Amino acid sequence: MDYQTILNKIQTTLLSVNNTGKVATYIPELESIDPKKFGMHLYCNNAGHYSVGDHQERFSIQSISKVFALTLTLSKLDYNDFFKRVDFEPSGDPFNSLVQLEHENGRPRNPFINAGALVISDLLISHLDKPKEDFLTLIHTITGDKTINFNKKVYASEKKWSYRNASLLNLMKSFDNIHNDLEEVLDFYIYQCAIEMSCKELATAFMIYANRGKTLDNIEIISPEKTKRINAIMQTCGFYDEAGEFSFKVGLPGKSGVGGGIAAIHPGQYAVTVWSPPLNPKGNSELGMLALEKLTTLTGYSIF
Ligand code: DON
Repeated sequence: MDYQTILNKIQTTLLSVNNTGKVATYIPELESIDPKKFGMHLYCNNAGHYSVGDHQERFSIQSISKVFALTLTLSKLDYNDFFKRVDFEPSGDPFNSLVQLEHENGRPRNPFINAGALVISDLLISHLDKPKEDFLTLIHTITGDKTINFNKKVYASEKKWSYRNASLLNLMKSFDNIHNDLEEVLDFYIYQCAIEMSCKELATAFMIYANRGKTLDNIEIISPEKTKRINAIMQTCGFYDEAGEFSFKVGLPGKSGVGGGIAAIHPGQYAVTVWSPPLNPKGNSELGMLALEKLTTLTGYSIF
């Protein structure tokens, strides 16, 4: 398969698309990103790396961090302890919605909506001595790059405007589904979202999900059985109320973030990441979705 020609073709096609997406503004610091940025990186199991555009430039991973948080949690916790606190059903609602919690005893539908990720942050604080350091160490281990860090400005900017996440925490606390100090949980969650990685680094990190939980150096981060389940949750819940559309159009497990990044995998084959900041109304990168749809169409392969 001539992947480089395919990526070049995707980039050329996207250049002529009328991008109606809008860069996220509710985290003010994200507003300053150049909306024209576009990068894509494909990391194939046995056939090397392929890339186009700004694939080496770091951006705010935002909700893509939720996949790493779930991985860290499942590597520490028993399933039953975990799923008592968070379900694994698609929500069909926006990523920051409060609605279902009220009727479902404060137990979030899945680990990838904000409510679920906040419960995961709470669980990690309960189980780790140094949650922030351990989280970053996981990312350093799976990328082999110790320079990856969080962006202080993005972190401070989201902290000032986190009323909705604070509401989610308060609501879940009222159902006794948050056990640590609310400020500490919020702070840890925002820290994870503010981590910056490039498409290349994210694709390298996501190779563990394409490779049954092992890094490229053969270190097992998470068991094959748990990797299967993380991938299933990415498939069904990775794009919130657009998870069906992503499955239908792209056909790969993946996860998006409001920084404009999307990471996806083809089990056993490759990890692919794309970055384009303008988001569609569901909060997913408009061109990112299109780029991945073109990838699975032009290669002729998805998981379906
Ligand atoms: O909590 C938030 O709203 C952001 N830090 C992350 C949201 C996000 O990335 C949703 N993804 N598409």
